[in-house]
Amino acid sequence: MTTLQQAEAAEHAMSQELDRIVVKSVLYTSGERNPTVPVSRPPDQGKLYLMGPDPRLPRMPERPTLFDFFRYRFGPSEHLLQSARLAQKSGASEKVVLACLLHDIAIAGFIRSDHGYWSAQLLEPYVEPEVSWAIRYHQALRFFPDEAAGYRYPELYTRLFGPDYTPDPYIQADYKYAREHKWYMTSRLITVNDLYAFDPDVRVELEEFTDIVGRNFRQPPEGLGFDQSPTAHMWRTIIAPTKYL
Ligand SMILES: [Fe+2]
Ligand SMILES: [Fe+2]
Repeated sequence: MTTLQQAEAAEHAMSQELDRIVVKSVLYTSGERNPTVPVSRPPDQGKLYLMGPDPRLPRMPERPTLFDFFRYRFGPSEHLLQSARLAQKSGASEKVVLACLLHDIAIAGFIRSDHGYWSAQLLEPYVEPEVSWAIRYHQALRFFPDEAAGYRYPELYTRLFGPDYTPDPYIQADYKYAREHKWYMTSRLITVNDLYAFDPDVRVELEEFTDIVGRNFRQPPEGLGFDQSPTAHMWRTIIAPTKYL
């Protein structure tokens, strides 16, 4: 088979599989369209609805590991890898390095809005409470400088949100709470190592963190999503985001 024929065959196989109807979750389109208005659907022409993996996405292994999510479902992870590397170089504890490696996984593969809370919740059953706590509160601490700890308000935020931006009241309240907490510094260190300027010449491989993840992340033998943890369904949704029900 020529390359063209191969490509055509692959495309044909794909279109056969997409004989299933894919309906996007409300959250995917909310804002671009008014979510309270009913969705008009084209006639299904006898096709069935997608109730399994989306053929347009890379297949996940049957028992996916955290790294499988990095490889097959998360967007480019340089930000996370470089933050973890920076923390490691500064001599931070394994908990802090792990927290840096995972602090933005919701942005990388799930939901951006309130990403610190989503990231923490996804991880809670699998990491020490201090790690998920730190990830949850980095969301609020990002907006408040602590120069003694080496964290200034990011110039990028002034550019992105304007000079007059004030965080929402719930973020301010969470900041005040976190500031007084015994794990404050763990969370603060996420923000200190949270790199916004990526160095395009620095290459960090996921595998550099194999041992730290092995020691500090309880990988379920059944695979993330299939272990009946309180957040297993969230991992399953990342695996199969277009499943109809
Ligand atoms: Fe973040
Ligand atoms: Fe970040």
